[in-house]
Amino acid sequence: MCGIVGYIGRNRAGSIMLDGLKRLEYRGYDSSGMVVSDGKGFEQIKSTGRVVNLEEALEEPQLGGNLGISHTRWATHGDVTEANAHPHTSSDGKISMVHNGVIENHANMKKFLAEKGYTFRSETDSEALCNLIAYHYNKEPKDGEKNPFLEAVRKSLRHVNGTYGIAVICSDFPKELIGARKGSPLIIGIGNGENLLASDVNAITHCTQNVVYLDDNEVVHLKNDDFSITTVSSKSVEAVIHKVDWDTSEAELGEFDNFMQKEIFEQPNSLKNGMRGRFSDDDSTAVFGGLNLNAQELRQIDRILFIACGTAWHACLVAEHLIERFARIPVEVEYASEFRYRDAPLDKNTLVIAISQSGETIDTLGALREAKRKGYRTLAINNSVGSAIARESDGGIYQHAGPEIGVASTKAFTSQIMISALLALYLGRLRDLSYGDGVEIVKALRTVPEQVEELLKQNDKIASIARKYAKYEDCLFLGRQLMFPIALEGALKLKEISYIHAEGYPAAEMKHGPIALISEDCPSVFLAASGEIFSKSLANMQEVKARKGKVICIATKGCDIPDGLVDDLILVPECHEIVKPILMSIPIQLLSYHVALERGCDVDKPRNLAKSVTVE
Ligand code: G6P
Repeated sequence: MCGIVGYIGRNRAGSIMLDGLKRLEYRGYDSSGMVVSDGKGFEQIKSTGRVVNLEEALEEPQLGGNLGISHTRWATHGDVTEANAHPHTSSDGKISMVHNGVIENHANMKKFLAEKGYTFRSETDSEALCNLIAYHYNKEPKDGEKNPFLEAVRKSLRHVNGTYGIAVICSDFPKELIGARKGSPLIIGIGNGENLLASDVNAITHCTQNVVYLDDNEVVHLKNDDFSITTVSSKSVEAVIHKVDWDTSEAELGEFDNFMQKEIFEQPNSLKNGMRGRFSDDDSTAVFGGLNLNAQELRQIDRILFIACGTAWHACLVAEHLIERFARIPVEVEYASEFRYRDAPLDKNTLVIAISQSGETIDTLGALREAKRKGYRTLAINNSVGSAIARESDGGIYQHAGPEIGVASTKAFTSQIMISALLALYLGRLRDLSYGDGVEIVKALRTVPEQVEELLKQNDKIASIARKYAKYEDCLFLGRQLMFPIALEGALKLKEISYIHAEGYPAAEMKHGPIALISEDCPSVFLAASGEIFSKSLANMQEVKARKGKVICIATKGCDIPDGLVDDLILVPECHEIVKPILMSIPIQLLSYHVALERGCDVDKPRNLAKSVTVE
């Protein structure tokens, strides 16, 4: 949720952190701040609004200093004000800290600390922890045997109920930086004569590609040239250094106007990358390296439960259709946040699959842990190598879609569908799907990148349709069967980036309520793929037209649509059933994108949202 960058080294901490914050802004963008230490004391600067405001407020000397912590905030406790922006500094001025997560027992902490004379400037939960660290630091003996700063951090964390990713500095230790995590991501970037802390690898790949993923309950103590990790209860931990193989330019805009546009247009590539090396032509099936389940074990699976949030949950609904259809395994889909606290009775041979772009969504992670605790085998479909969900699941499939920066998911969604299609093929071929059907599917999937490339050429046409509809305040997205999840995703895309009220419904369900909304001021987007129930979708369009509703129809080429029935028509190539959800997603992404632009919205940073939701 919030973004953290910390730096210790020989370079200008302020400049490096500012660069990192800009790369992390998608994690939260209501306010930002940094504290830099030049060895003589702390220099603090905060600003509400985007990171650019912080940049404008920063003065040259504040960018210097070789140690610092910084933060871009997504508010949980307290309004969006400078006082609530991080870093927070203890009332005695000794400790400064940035925090991502929620300190659930902050009220008790504050009460305790107030009695000891500590004061508070903000309404945040984070400031309580910062002052608690100061309290323990002030009590800690300074006899040189133990590091009192490190001890104080560890002691304080033992009193925390809730989640945290923190970076902390102490004015008495101008050559040390401490970080810790529980439930909120934190990684260490290992540089040459410098080290970094960040909530996301994106923030540091411009400095180093060597990273250590901190685990829950771990504390890292960093200096310029070395670092050590211990647990909160002081046990030492061996660090494993990973190399991030991202091309840093992947997280940059290049020739595009914004990340959403870039990511929509990257889909031919992201889809190709998701399939690369994953077909066996001899067996007409898919191959995966990291499932950690052999064919016999997979044959024992009687049921699959998918868990996810947001757009990834829509990908799960597509996976449900594909796996039930092609592999004939019963599938259920649950919101991770619901599953986690529900005592759902699951079949003994259930495989639990989490889908998550970031791999850090706290509800999905919590649900995965709950499934593991109950003894179920778990897999993850995930786009972030080294993320908590990737590390904690028993096996998984990486999406290889490249970093997704735009808050509204686009390329990650189609890539999750692609992986689900590959999984449906693989599971199907372990059961009743014939060799010939497998050949057809492999062929169909291989042509998707080309078809998406072709579809993207309709960008201008879709932009002009979007201009016609940008003025409306309500919109319905309707689709049946495999198109229902795409209707849900279309409605989500439109509402999250353009603030138009939009709802996705199975087209036939429209008659049970949403039809009451239809009027000339409420257009409907129909996802009408060819197939046995296409004629039923036409009947639903007639019902809308009869009530003066406008119809935008996204259909597959070759479908017979009566003259005058639709107001605007977007055609996608005729294709195999398994790839329809991917192809039909492209027009809804472009449509929402252009409507949002027409309404003057910031498509990359929609209000109130954040990319990686690491609070419950
Ligand atoms: C947020 C993002 C969505 C994303 C969802 C789940 O709401 O804005 O784009 O689909 O979280 O995220 P995940 O990283 O778990 O896929």
